[in-house]
Amino acid sequence: MALRVDVITIFPDYLAPLQLSLLGRAQREGLLEVHVHDLRDWTHDRHRTVDDTPYGGGAGMVMRPEPWGEALDEVCASLPGRTPHVVVPGPGGDVFTQRTAGTMALELDWVVFVCGRYEGIDERVYLEFARRYPLSVLSLGDYVLNGGEVAVLAMTEAIARLLPGMVGNEASLEEESHTGGLLEYPVYTKPASWRGHEVPPVLLSGHHGQIADWRHQQRLERTAARRPDLMQRYREDEDHGDVGRS
Ligand code: ADE
Repeated sequence: MALRVDVITIFPDYLAPLQLSLLGRAQREGLLEVHVHDLRDWTHDRHRTVDDTPYGGGAGMVMRPEPWGEALDEVCASLPGRTPHVVVPGPGGDVFTQRTAGTMALELDWVVFVCGRYEGIDERVYLEFARRYPLSVLSLGDYVLNGGEVAVLAMTEAIARLLPGMVGNEASLEEESHTGGLLEYPVYTKPASWRGHEVPPVLLSGHHGQIADWRHQQRLERTAARRPDLMQRYREDEDHGDVGRS
């Protein structure tokens, strides 16, 4: 079954890149189905209002609950017999990682993305829909975007490329960063010498064992230098794996 993705946003055009490149191909090949909805279609006033001032005061505007309520009622009931996983991108959520992407690609067949803007969505929308559906707030990382749309692009791409049948070269998926807990090794192509920079000789040696060792060493060094947090977890997992060995 294709992964169905619905996106509700006040900027449908923001999601146009989902039609490009590998994601576009995945849709043409029937692996992925994307439907983008304009939240303002569920407003009823002349100005198609989606926001209002915050109770209790403070800066900015808050998204009103009624358009979100009607939109989610309708979109989440649009596939009879199926239950969506509702995802609200936001900087206050659990961090979306390669593991999250892999789990979602494997286990979900329908994701409804809720794109907040302004200072956020009225809290009662979360309460109402978390009662009715599995609902996650997911963050791309520790920085603040203007809204959820860019996060939906990133998450959908990360998930969709892990769908079975998506990438021609399965080996390239296995070797890349954040699979196996280490960063990637550096890669080179022709020419062997460029502006005085030489390709590491081992890569020209034809010794597959030495090349594999060198690449592994590079991954360890890079990870230690750039991501000590990942390195520590990698070491802990190794230690963990050693328990019980004599
Ligand atoms: N919306 C605003 N900031 C975000 C972030 N860091 N991740 C996901 N969605 C967001």
